[in-house]
Amino acid sequence: MPEVSVKEAERFMVESLVAGGAPLSEAKAHADLLLHADFVGHFSHGMNRLEVYINNIKSGICNPNVKPVVLKETAATAWVDGCDGLGATVGNFCMNLAIKKAKECGIGWVAAKRCNHYGMAGYWALKAEKEGLIGMSFTNSSPVMVPTRAKQSANGTNPIAMAAPATGGDSIVVDMASTTAAVGKIEVQIRKGEPIPEGWALGPDGKTTTDSQLAFDTARLLPLGGFEETSGYKGYCLSAMVEVFCSGLSGSQSTHNIPSWSHNQSEAPNLGQCFVAMDPGCFAPGFEQRVAECLQHWRNLEPVDPSLPVLAPGDKERNNAKTTNERGTIIYPQSQVEFYQRLAARIGVRPLEVVNTQCSK
Ligand SMILES: NC(=O)c1ccc[n+]([C@@H]2O[C@H](COP(=O)([O-])OP(=O)(O)OC[C@H]3O[C@@H](n4cnc5c(N)ncnc54)[C@H](O)[C@@H]3O)[C@@H](O)[C@H]2O)c1
Repeated sequence: MPEVSVKEAERFMVESLVAGGAPLSEAKAHADLLLHADFVGHFSHGMNRLEVYINNIKSGICNPNVKPVVLKETAATAWVDGCDGLGATVGNFCMNLAIKKAKECGIGWVAAKRCNHYGMAGYWALKAEKEGLIGMSFTNSSPVMVPTRAKQSANGTNPIAMAAPATGGDSIVVDMASTTAAVGKIEVQIRKGEPIPEGWALGPDGKTTTDSQLAFDTARLLPLGGFEETSGYKGYCLSAMVEVFCSGLSGSQSTHNIPSWSHNQSEAPNLGQCFVAMDPGCFAPGFEQRVAECLQHWRNLEPVDPSLPVLAPGDKERNNAKTTNERGTIIYPQSQVEFYQRLAARIGVRPLEVVNTQCSK
């Protein structure tokens, strides 16, 4: 598959967002969010999503020139109007505010309405972790999850993210959709022309499908855990919890009222998002040591298969980041590169420079 240098991928994303109508500062911030996803191996939330953001800016659903507004505030909390800004604009504003509050009074809890898609929830939690804090972030999303026993989708893939520091620069990062898989992972399978695993999504007949395009079009993903027999209701419950933190606190749309997910949306989604920062220093001394001890304990457990060591949450992404860093390139599916070369021509941006197509499919 084609390889693109990390710098070139960044250049392309920044220039595309600027060509779409974003100011350079916000284009750079948003490209950083997308680049992080590709860097750590979550291709679903990287360049894969660039076209959606550009479409949303061009159609006026997303206004990249706004500054979010604080509507209500206490020492530890803030209610924010995201003003339909770019995901990174609102995310940076809200998480920076939560971090400031956590440093001043131990905790910062910020809920925002009128938000757009903000990519990997973990990116936002990590901003707090880098400041020595526990970070959490949540967002609601379009209705694509079928609640347990329901025929129709009503909940979102509503992700949950938590990042916390450990000694020696280590960290724990939990970053997961409350569905078995994020919608973007189905999009990536479509781009590769490959099926999805059994158990991710239902087809129109209510049975699980492995057809990635059918799964995307039907938009009936199973909650984390799958069917009721395998405790899928727990994924549904986690998604419901995220809904409370997001639409409940912020007054945004509830997921069942958000427009369906599409690459050409026709109305602003008015998502609700939540950003939390907490100072572990307000609690028992030795937090980072205890987290580090847990991480080491888990990693040192004897694996069932010696070729597959036990991982701690966040290790997969850390390992992927190390590989990307060493290689200096990101490997994209051929069809994705072709798609973005067409986009580049359409919006007048220099095409992506591919450095290696040797193993192209
Ligand atoms: N913005 C949105 O609307 C939205 C919606 C859904 C998901 N997302 C994002 O999509 C991304 C992918 O989500 P996902 O649920 O598909 O992630 P995933 O299933 O790939 O990983 C989920 C978590 O499991 C951990 N993990 C993976 N393998 C592990 C192992 N063997 N042992 C221990 N831990 C392991 C990962 O480190 C991660 O913290 C996330 O960044 C999420 O925030 C965004």
